[in-house]
Amino acid sequence: MTQNHSEQVIQATNYIKKQEKKVGNTKYRLNYHMMPPVGWMNDPNGFIQYNGEYHLFYQHYPYATKWGPMHWGHAKSKDLVNWEHLSVALAPSEFYDNGTMDDHGCFSGSAFEKDNELYLFYTGHSIERDPMQVQCIAKSMDGINFIKENRNPVIDHFPKDGSKDFRDPKVWQYDNQYYMVVGSKKDGKGKALFYQSSNLINWKYRGVVAESNGKQGDMWECPDLFPLEKEHALILSPMYGEKNEKPIIIFGEMNYKDAKFSQERSILLDYGHDFYAPQTLKDEKGRRIMIGWMDMWFSKRPSEEDGWIGAMTMPRELTYNNNGIFIQQPIEELKALRNNHHHIEGFEIHGVHRFPKLDGIATELCIDFDIVNSDSPVFGLHLRCSTDRSEKTIIKVDTINKEIIVDLTSAGEGKSGVYKAPYNSKTDGKLNLRIFLDTTSMELFVNHGEQVITNRIYPHSSSNEVDLFAEGGKARVLKADKWSLRSVWK
Ligand code: FRU
Repeated sequence: MTQNHSEQVIQATNYIKKQEKKVGNTKYRLNYHMMPPVGWMNDPNGFIQYNGEYHLFYQHYPYATKWGPMHWGHAKSKDLVNWEHLSVALAPSEFYDNGTMDDHGCFSGSAFEKDNELYLFYTGHSIERDPMQVQCIAKSMDGINFIKENRNPVIDHFPKDGSKDFRDPKVWQYDNQYYMVVGSKKDGKGKALFYQSSNLINWKYRGVVAESNGKQGDMWECPDLFPLEKEHALILSPMYGEKNEKPIIIFGEMNYKDAKFSQERSILLDYGHDFYAPQTLKDEKGRRIMIGWMDMWFSKRPSEEDGWIGAMTMPRELTYNNNGIFIQQPIEELKALRNNHHHIEGFEIHGVHRFPKLDGIATELCIDFDIVNSDSPVFGLHLRCSTDRSEKTIIKVDTINKEIIVDLTSAGEGKSGVYKAPYNSKTDGKLNLRIFLDTTSMELFVNHGEQVITNRIYPHSSSNEVDLFAEGGKARVLKADKWSLRSVWK
């Protein structure tokens, strides 16, 4: 076994520090989202609260603005809002005794704390070896410097129900036992493979805990299985052939004895384009918090020219509302970013109106529409809108088809497209839109988190105006609030 992991980590960390100073153009940098200092970022990894601080690791290739041999980037935060970048946690380096390697990357995985020691579970990936993917551990006593376990790989081969695509271990504890799900595929079906351990090192294969019902993809990436109030939830990012699709959450009962998760109902977590590979943690306040990669494979990424790519969504709390409907809401702590509040109440829209008080590049907008007393079939907003309206991101409420539509056809550079989410019409005749805009993103929460639509947008910095519009009738607005959101980055 070669022992050059710490050298690789130091080399990558030093490279980042040197390059960071050279990042000249900051026009696409976000104000309050996690993003890499330089280079490429994809999936969130090892999301955990450790010694009172939140740690977030991520798939990272520091040396170029493209996917490459995966490292784990690392940042920590006291409040999930203000982040501090730390040295690279994992770098590809090892050759294992069974002939496998992680030389082509430390792929996605999770974190777990035992006796004050922080364990990272990751997939060692090697394209030239067989098997291609094995499960590994790295440990740390200070939460910053990680040593790869010398008993790696701790799972050295995929089981009979899996295949060479065997990755993204998520570990948790239940009743004094440790459990792990790993994503895989076989016979055209995505699968979550289930393991059990009493010491975190020796893992016993227990079977397929859940698999695709035939319509949920032929490969499951980044499975995450956890209790959520009275039930269990399984989050996964499905692939259809070579194509990645939108992550889903499946609700059901977990039977640890029989190693089976009953899959009762499933929904899309996000209807936008830029949301993938989400991961959750349970924090000391008992909240289940999810963060996702706010970008997507094979997307258009204008920030490439500035030496960085990829970002994370805002952290979202997963709960149920008073009607028992599953909701996702931006964590409470984000309210600390608010300043410069404007409030407008009780007015009607016919045609298109500009609202200078609602404008901005990094803002939170919260609007309640009175649908019962509106007769316009389609109303909504133009956001990040240029003075002449040639550039704009459009949100439409289609009351005939009960859909929220995000239209990026003239949103600027970046990926175009039209994204639709159904909305629940049983909300006392009201419709609530809560929109978070940042320099190059828009996260839209419908009816207090019943649906979410997340997209990266790349408008011109001067496109910062807001219109409200109503087609073919009037739309009544009960109230509209706007806050500017301050930057968390220096
Ligand atoms: C999901 C994914 C994971 C893999 C990682 C590699 O986006 O494909 O399955 O571990 O990215 O970077």
